[in-house]
Amino acid sequence: MVISPRKKLAILISGRGSNMEAILAASGDTSYPAEICVVISDNKDAGGLQTARATNIEAHAIERSDYASRADHEAAIKKAINMTRADLICLAGFMRILSADFTKAYQGRLINIHPSLLPKYKGLDTHKRAIDDGEKEHGCTVHFVNSEMDGGEIIAQEKVPVFSQDTADTLSARVLIKEHKLYSKVIADLAKVK
Ligand code: GAR
Repeated sequence: MVISPRKKLAILISGRGSNMEAILAASGDTSYPAEICVVISDNKDAGGLQTARATNIEAHAIERSDYASRADHEAAIKKAINMTRADLICLAGFMRILSADFTKAYQGRLINIHPSLLPKYKGLDTHKRAIDDGEKEHGCTVHFVNSEMDGGEIIAQEKVPVFSQDTADTLSARVLIKEHKLYSKVIADLAKVK
């Protein structure tokens, strides 16, 4: 029997890292077709870095302020990714806009999870904006990343209802539960075909 190796994931985060944790939990099952090989954050205080280190996953803080230019900062991130020979690069709450050079370097292998039903509500404060607009439905999207912010090809979406008493926090919590399931599933699906 030939056992195919699991695909390697580089996860880029900026903060809490709950999506990263969900992927980590999914990959705890050895039948999951991918595993995290490196976690990179542009914020040394990101909670997700501690989680990764506690699980013996290679983790790097690569902060913009330590580099003279955006290009140098992105070059350092690329180097850390490429050293691990990651197959798929997953943005999971990575809050920095990446240059066209960066996104082109990983075209078709760079994905993001965004807390809205794209193409609606690109950018920040998606939950508040959906409530303010009186949306009855909201959700999350996993998409390929290209040079247009939150504009790459959509891979999959999950919807949640918006209730009249919702605040940005209650809606965000409902969406986050869907994010964790959706991201792990999409990564598994891509890992099987890539
Ligand atoms: C998630 O809701 C993710 O969709 C969002 O940041 C949060 C990160 O949470 N990403 C974006 O807004 C990207 N534009 P996490 O750190 O707990 O995974």
